[in-house]
Amino acid sequence: MTGSKGVALVTGANRGIGAELCCELSTAGYEVLGTVRNPSLSEADNHVVSVATWIALDLSDWDSIRSASAEITRYASSLDVLVNNAGTNVPPASVGDKQTAAVLGSLEGASLEAMFRINAIGPLLLTQALIPLLNRGRKPRVAMLTTERASLSGSEHAGKYGYRASKVALNMFTRVLAADVHDENVIVLGMDPGWVKTSMGGLDAPVTAREAVPDLVSFLLRATMRHSGRIYDRHGVAQSW
Ligand SMILES: NC(=O)c1ccc[n+]([C@@H]2O[C@H](COP(=O)([O-])OP(=O)(O)OC[C@H]3O[C@@H](n4cnc5c(N)ncnc54)[C@H](OP(=O)(O)O)[C@@H]3O)[C@@H](O)[C@H]2O)c1
Repeated sequence: MTGSKGVALVTGANRGIGAELCCELSTAGYEVLGTVRNPSLSEADNHVVSVATWIALDLSDWDSIRSASAEITRYASSLDVLVNNAGTNVPPASVGDKQTAAVLGSLEGASLEAMFRINAIGPLLLTQALIPLLNRGRKPRVAMLTTERASLSGSEHAGKYGYRASKVALNMFTRVLAADVHDENVIVLGMDPGWVKTSMGGLDAPVTAREAVPDLVSFLLRATMRHSGRIYDRHGVAQSW
């Protein structure tokens, strides 16, 4: 079954901003495919009823990206919306504690490398694998979830090396990818959701995912080729790199 607007894929769909993205895209008329790192979480979080099909994906594992892409390609003949939402601001616990990617004096190579795999290289490789499907989509569009903390011109804070630098890499991948697929009319946007109350954002964030995501999806769905290759806040205001 394909939604009236086509097919959308959301990574990290089991919780936080990803779960709300699935609800909004489903309400907007898309059939939503959601990825989840641990397939048992799709059952535990079965409140995400808007997800038609769950796909197992661990962005730190290249084989997992290959098998997820193959499964998506078997399931859908085209893809209209891809939201690279999954990400992390700490390294996986099996690699190191949060200090090892954040605090000068405690930094470790394996932790920093893991953040780049999950936040930047994984989303790029997944998107590359899905370009043939996007090329068959209707007004295809790709969103890369980024953060103002990765702004080179707008941020002078200390710490959080792994998170911020891996999102800077994602921003550059967004820009290069947009240029590469420009002639195929695939829109590629960096999107900053703002500070949102999730496991990553924490309880002090000013808005919930339910409050923030409708604006983000509204802009994503109305963006045109002239917006491609830049970063926007959730209201569609262009942000500095
Ligand atoms: N919340 C904020 O204030 C904020 C601000 C700016 C940007 N963002 C960006 O918005 C996106 C969503 O953030 P959020 O606040 O919803 O985060 P979250 O609640 O921590 O959820 C993160 C999602 O990413 C998945 N994920 C983590 N590591 C993964 C891996 N190796 N492979 C595949 N999936 C993985 C998680 O899966 P598991 O459940 O298996 O861990 C989860 O579904 C992120 O890219 C984040 O950088 C968030």
